[in-house]
Amino acid sequence: MDKYAVFGNPIKHSKSPEIHSQFASQLNEHIEYTAILAPEDGFISSIKDFFAGGGKGANVTLPFKEVAFDYADTLTERAKLAGAVNTLKLLEDGLVLGDNTDGAGLVADLQRHQAQLKGAVVLLLGAGGAARGCIYPLLSAGVKKIVIANRTATKAQALADLFTPHGDVVAAPLDGIPKLPYTGVINSTSSSVTGDTPKISSQLITKVAWGYDMFYSNERTSFLTWLANNNNACYLMDGMGMLIGQAAEAYAVWRGKYPNVDLLLEKAK
Ligand code: ATR
Repeated sequence: MDKYAVFGNPIKHSKSPEIHSQFASQLNEHIEYTAILAPEDGFISSIKDFFAGGGKGANVTLPFKEVAFDYADTLTERAKLAGAVNTLKLLEDGLVLGDNTDGAGLVADLQRHQAQLKGAVVLLLGAGGAARGCIYPLLSAGVKKIVIANRTATKAQALADLFTPHGDVVAAPLDGIPKLPYTGVINSTSSSVTGDTPKISSQLITKVAWGYDMFYSNERTSFLTWLANNNNACYLMDGMGMLIGQAAEAYAVWRGKYPNVDLLLEKAK
């Protein structure tokens, strides 16, 4: 049986083993998928052991996405631009490919919800790894302009500079966001984890058609609640679809077959 695993620290609450075993049974395939807790300074030896022991592919989550980027022998274009790797695959020649499916998972989820991306002006809150991973996939999906706004403005500017060659990407501090007719807003900050919201003027989002929080929980997230309170026509989405979407992309990278995301989302609900 082909062996896969997710590496992280912590890893106990990872939903990946459940998601991938559901994908495999959907497709009538038999895979082994486990969750591996790597020591904080021990990712490289853990992943080497895994591949030496017959592992075919791995997912990588916090805090190892950057070290996985360094570890990979060869990288996809989207992983290079993300600066991080969430999917590793052992190639036929023994080399390890590093890919990043997070942004593709987000875009697939937005498209599944029929959120307008073509010609869209997007307000992207946050400038960490999660923001970086989604910029190129959003531009590739037809987004016309991205305004990155971050609490630490210099980080937003650094990110915008990185993507300027690929499209219209600009930076702003949270209290200086240009008043544009935004099509949608994406929260990539970790503020919802603590029930907080990025401090931006509500005037910016009173007309957005859709809002996405990369975070998810059983209840509506603090960001989506704030959005709904200020714009009752806004279509709201949380990060559950992105989580399942990035996993589906990874499954396709490893095994060349694309699982049915809708089926799993229905179950998750
Ligand atoms: P990730 O890889 O998930 O993006 P990260 O690199 O730690 O995680 O980035 C977290 C992001 O959330 C950052 O943009 C951070 O803003 P700063 O760069 O100013 O630290 C943002 N963030 C976290 N908590 C926030 C809050 N309460 N309000 C606004 N932004 C917040």
